[in-house]
Amino acid sequence: MSERIRKVVFPVAGLGTRFLPATKASPKEMLPVVDKPLIQYAVEEAVAAGAETLIFVTGRTKRAIEDHFDKAYELEMELEAKQKHRMLELVRSTVPKGVNCIYIRQGEALGLGHAVLCAQPIVGNDPFGVILADDLIDGQGEKVLSQMVREFDEHQCSLLGVERVPMQETGSYGVVSARDFADSVSAVDAIVEKPAPAEAPSNLAVVGRYILTPAIFELLRHTVPDAKGEIQLTDAISALLRQERVLAHEFTGKRYDCGSKLGYLKATVEYGLQHPDLGAAFGEYLKSR
Ligand code: UTP
Repeated sequence: MSERIRKVVFPVAGLGTRFLPATKASPKEMLPVVDKPLIQYAVEEAVAAGAETLIFVTGRTKRAIEDHFDKAYELEMELEAKQKHRMLELVRSTVPKGVNCIYIRQGEALGLGHAVLCAQPIVGNDPFGVILADDLIDGQGEKVLSQMVREFDEHQCSLLGVERVPMQETGSYGVVSARDFADSVSAVDAIVEKPAPAEAPSNLAVVGRYILTPAIFELLRHTVPDAKGEIQLTDAISALLRQERVLAHEFTGKRYDCGSKLGYLKATVEYGLQHPDLGAAFGEYLKSR
């Protein structure tokens, strides 16, 4: 019987050092792009793809994320009393009915691989999605996780969201070598973490979207920490490749690396220009400068 993706993991326990001091006491994932925090864009993408259980792997200073997706009694009462119906609807709809949020602590920031491993008790033996909220992707029609769930429904194996990056940037990503398979999907032969351009097998970089089979957990458990003491998801995926088929999905859409200040500013400008209430006035302002 074919399996479906019902659970999505959001690793949100990183230290976010590139955004200090903004991230000293509040999480990077709560930085707003126009009027929504990054994590809400990620949650909306997961829910649109059919997720029913959202698993947040949190760390210190991440309480704001739990509060954001919780019921806000006092605020809702105030808005109701003031008849601010539109605002009330916005506040109530951060998580749609029937969707469950579960929070797990990653005691120490021991790497993305370790964060994913922390979700094992909830994910259990099911295939699952992973979204890194700081990679904000405008799917331009269909959100990226939905694109990948469609591929999963067909191929029933792990999938990595990939994007072609300039060769000189390979050192910032996990990079795959992949054989042509069909349209936007190719079979992954190898994956290397942050290769120098001269050593990179291609310019196909893995970005913050994954669908993984539960076999990844056992491999993560046996992954040796890197020089910085972090367990890399890339290393476990490299081991997974030796036992299962893994596909790369070259997604349709525009990605903004909101873990970096420049990427975050670009996202703010683009989403500001697209905003239904603000876009025209913001566009005028940009032109006037
Ligand atoms: P990053 O490499 O962007 O690290 O993590 P970071 O700590 O968030 O940010 P900088 O580099 O210090 O500015 C990639 C993703 O993995 C998560 C982060 O929250 C982010 O979504 N992560 C990373 C964890 O959940 N736990 C970790 O131990 C490390």
